[in-house]
Amino acid sequence: MPDRVVDFYDRHPISEAQVLAAVARRRGGVEGALTAEDLFEFDQDHYGGLDAVDTLARRAGVIARSRVLDVCAGLAGPARFLASRRGCRVVGVELHAGRAAGGARLTRRVGLAGRVSVVRGDATTLPFAAGAFDACLSQEAFLHIERKPSVLAECHRVLAPGGRLAFTDWVARPGLGDRAREQLREWMAATSLQTLEGYRALLGRVGFGAVEAEDLSDAWRQVLRARLRMFRAMRADTVARLGEARFGEYDRLYAFFVGLVEAGRLGGGRFTATR
Ligand SMILES: C[S@@+](CC[C@H](N)C(=O)[O-])C[C@H]1O[C@@H](n2cnc3c(N)ncnc32)[C@H](O)[C@@H]1O
Repeated sequence: MPDRVVDFYDRHPISEAQVLAAVARRRGGVEGALTAEDLFEFDQDHYGGLDAVDTLARRAGVIARSRVLDVCAGLAGPARFLASRRGCRVVGVELHAGRAAGGARLTRRVGLAGRVSVVRGDATTLPFAAGAFDACLSQEAFLHIERKPSVLAECHRVLAPGGRLAFTDWVARPGLGDRAREQLREWMAATSLQTLEGYRALLGRVGFGAVEAEDLSDAWRQVLRARLRMFRAMRADTVARLGEARFGEYDRLYAFFVGLVEAGRLGGGRFTATR
């Protein structure tokens, strides 16, 4: 199953090259010094933008001396945001080799390598010692992981006692049928989806306490509507960059996905728990 995830992110529109191209368009070039702030508009691959990262960090109690692990870090946008705004050290672990390397290059480029490192690895077998972190965060990534008990147990293992896990993910809601699940698996590498209550139970089962589960479906519905509108408004630009076929592929995929969210069959959840 990780192969399907890697394949999906091989073709994903958010990449190191795309981030730098977007910054270049905005600034009229990428020569000279770049800061983490220059990238934030383009390097976050989740819903709710920087506010969403900030909320997770608050829920996880992240402060300047926290040792933070970002699980499934993507291009390390959230990791750079936390390190630059909160002054903490962040390690990002990312499955996709190109994204891990791209995330590390972007981090060096903005001068944050002293505080942010990106490690290529699988969230179900984290390459870190027990108790190495004070906070584990993750955004919109566990949907790609079939063995959810493993990833949650690994977060529990690498947290110090009293450490906090805070993550957001898509959740299955009533009426999400087998066919829609199969399409989500095929098209978006969503290998398995938990429900809000399913996650709550799993977190307890792997040893977490003070578990909280919050339904974000209404907020995400607004975000997704806006994203679909924006994607379609940028049709000419996207076709020029990726071609008509890729635009069409993403458009169909997006419309299907947003349709499930509109119908209340798919939603989002935010979870916090204490080791
Ligand atoms: C939607 S992106 C989110 C990236 C980042 N959290 C952000 O918000 O910008 C999901 C990321 O999870 C990574 N991923 C998926 N399965 C993984 C696994 N088993 N271990 C580590 N990373 C994984 C993907 O390669 C992808 O970069």
